[in-house]
Parts: sequence; C-alpha cells; structure tokens
Amino acid sequence: MSSQIQSKLSFLPLKEIKKSLQAIDSDTIIFITDSNLWDLYRDKINLELIETDKKVIRWIAPAGELCKTFGEYEKCIEYIIGQGVHRNAHLVAMGGGALSDFAGLIAATLLRGINWSIISTSLLAMVDASIGGKVAINSKFGKNLIGNFHLPQNVWIDSQMLSTLPKVEVTSGLGEIVKYAFLSKEVYSFIENKVDLGLVIKECASFKQLVVEEDLLESKKRKILNFGHTFGHAFERIYDLSHGVAVAWGIYYMFKLFDEDQLLETFAKVTKLLKVNEQLQSPPWEHKGLDVDLALDYVGKDKKVSDNKSIDLVLIDTIGVPRITKMAIDDLKCKMINLT
Ligand SMILES: NC(=O)c1ccc[n+]([C@@H]2O[C@H](COP(=O)([O-])OP(=O)(O)OC[C@H]3O[C@@H](n4cnc5c(N)ncnc54)[C@H](O)[C@@H]3O)[C@@H](O)[C@H]2O)c1
Repeated sequence: MSSQIQSKLSFLPLKEIKKSLQAIDSDTIIFITDSNLWDLYRDKINLELIETDKKVIRWIAPAGELCKTFGEYEKCIEYIIGQGVHRNAHLVAMGGGALSDFAGLIAATLLRGINWSIISTSLLAMVDASIGGKVAINSKFGKNLIGNFHLPQNVWIDSQMLSTLPKVEVTSGLGEIVKYAFLSKEVYSFIENKVDLGLVIKECASFKQLVVEEDLLESKKRKILNFGHTFGHAFERIYDLSHGVAVAWGIYYMFKLFDEDQLLETFAKVTKLLKVNEQLQSPPWEHKGLDVDLALDYVGKDKKVSDNKSIDLVLIDTIGVPRITKMAIDDLKCKMINLT
C-alpha cells in the first residue's frame, strides 16, 4: 500500500507532460501503454514523451479488459525484472482505466512497490479510474478482485487525447459522469448549464480527489463513489456492457428498486443533457430478463459486501447528498423479485 497521501492532478498537453516526466527523480522509466494507444500515438510517445536520457523499459499490453489477467500480469512483470530494475525506477502508465488498473498493480508489487504516474487517456479514466490509487486485475469470479491501493504520484490529463477515443468509449465515460451528477451539486450544475466537457472532467476528477483524500482505504466516505456500482458490476458482466453504461443502468436500477420517481426524472434529464439518452433508452433486462440469483451472485462477490448476509448500498437523498445504508441480502432479493 502506498504511504503517500495524495496524487498531484494536472491538466496539461502531452508536450508539457514530457517536462514533468523528465523532472521525475529516477534514471529509469518503465513505460506501459496498450496496443491501441501505441498504434495511435507511437510517434508522439517516442518524440514528445519518452525521448529522454533516462533508461526506458517499454511494455505494450493488450487493449481493454484483456490486460487485467494473471497471464498478462506475469508476462509484463517478468519482462520488466528481466530488463534490470531497481526500487527507484518510476512506472508511467498511459491509457484508460483498464490499463492503469493493470499497470498500477505492476507498480504496487514490483520489488514490493515502486512509484508511478498515470497519463489518463479515456473519458472514464479522466473522471474516475485514474484517481484514487485502486489498482487491480480480474479474477474468474469477478472484476477487480485481485489488487491493492497504490496512489500514483501524478495523474496527468490531456483532454485533447479524447479526439481519438471511439464513440462507444465516450458513452462509457459519460455513464460514469452521470454518477457524479448525483453525488456533486457542482457537477450537476455544470451539466445543467451545459458548460464545456473539459470543465466537467476537472470537476469530477477534483471531486473524486477530495473524497479519496478523506478516506483512501474506503472505510467510510469513499464508499459513496460506489454509487451505481453494486448492480453496475453485475450488469457489466451479465449483459456485456461497457463499464460506464453498466454504472448508469446500476443507478437507474437502484432508483427503481427504491421507488425514487423524482430521481428517475432527474436521471432522464441528466442523460439527455449529456446526450446519452439514446444509448440508455431501454434497460437491458427489459429484453433479456434479469436472473435475480445470478445478479445477486455477482453482487455477493463484489467488494461492497461487508459480511455474508448484508451489503452496503449507496442511496441518494437529493443531489449532492448520498447516504450509505446496510441492507440484508435477503431483503434486497425480495425487492428485486418484486420488481421483475
Ligand atoms: N481504479 C479505479 O478506481 C477504477 C474506477 C472505475 C473503473 N475502473 C476500471 O476501468 C476500466 C474501464 O475504463 P476504460 O474504459 O477507460 O478502460 P480501457 O483502458 O479499457 O479503455 C477503453 C478503450 O479505449 C481505448 N482508449 C483509451 N484512450 C484512448 C484514446 N485517447 N484514443 C483511442 N483509444 C483510447 C483503449 O485502448 C481501450 O480499448 C475497467 O477495467 C474498470 O474496472 C477502475
């Protein structure tokens, strides 16, 4: 676990990021990116980023969730060790949330943990995944079950990089922004006033940063960031949805379960303002049905379960006022069955 108390969050173009990277007090950079970003940004990476007199160990991981496996973890970490590293080497992860989860676990475990930084490239990572130091790979039993808390020293965000992000990934990022619209009055008001996406990104990232500062290890306040994720993670697996879209449906499902009609109206308003209403038109369980036991099986394996019989749920009283409540899994199951 990182002993550092906070990451430095900076919004900079790639060229400026290079200066910060050069200034890192280490003679060795371990640079990890994914195959998509390498294909798109190879020249920029070589010329604008890691053209340096430091020793550079480079690793290109498979894009997306495919990198978050034991096999990829082993290949990557053994390669780095084989290249010769010391504990003052600094790892730089350039990519979306899957890539930084993966590379962060390498940083957390290599030689018992080395310092690292993230260049965050997807919308979802800019507003959420790159902040807060949660690093993980997946288990065959569920997502992110093998991991640690290891704060990066720097999170660098160049929102220009979103110009190459595929539309489906933009939608996923917007799904995660829906979460922040309910957690933060400021984010909601930015969305309502149709301010520039760059400012919305900054506000979401800063909101998460503040929450993490208060509670890195998720013993209390940080749990609010799991809003929409209890069912979101289950829907992601069951219906093969992108992370952010699954989270948005996880939020909608919670409002349905708890008869929150007014919040359902706000959900419709926010998704329309963010222009994701078309992609979120009808819930996946309406066509495909919802296997309550299967969904609860995923929910049970998720990390929000505090013991074998109950679960911490995040509810929203009103915008900007989340509440954590413990609920017996049997009671939750009854509610779910009543809804089907
Ligand atoms: N650690 C956390 O706190 C946290 C929080 C939320 C989500 N997550 C994790 O994040 C992952 C989802 O995040 P994601 O969607 O960013 O993951 P991702 O890394 O898989 O990125 C999505 C896709 O977009 C591509 N991409 C990224 N940036 C690009 C760019 N600028 N141009 C072109 N293509 C680009 C990637 O190659 C990939 O194919 C999940 O694994 C989820 O579990 C982690």
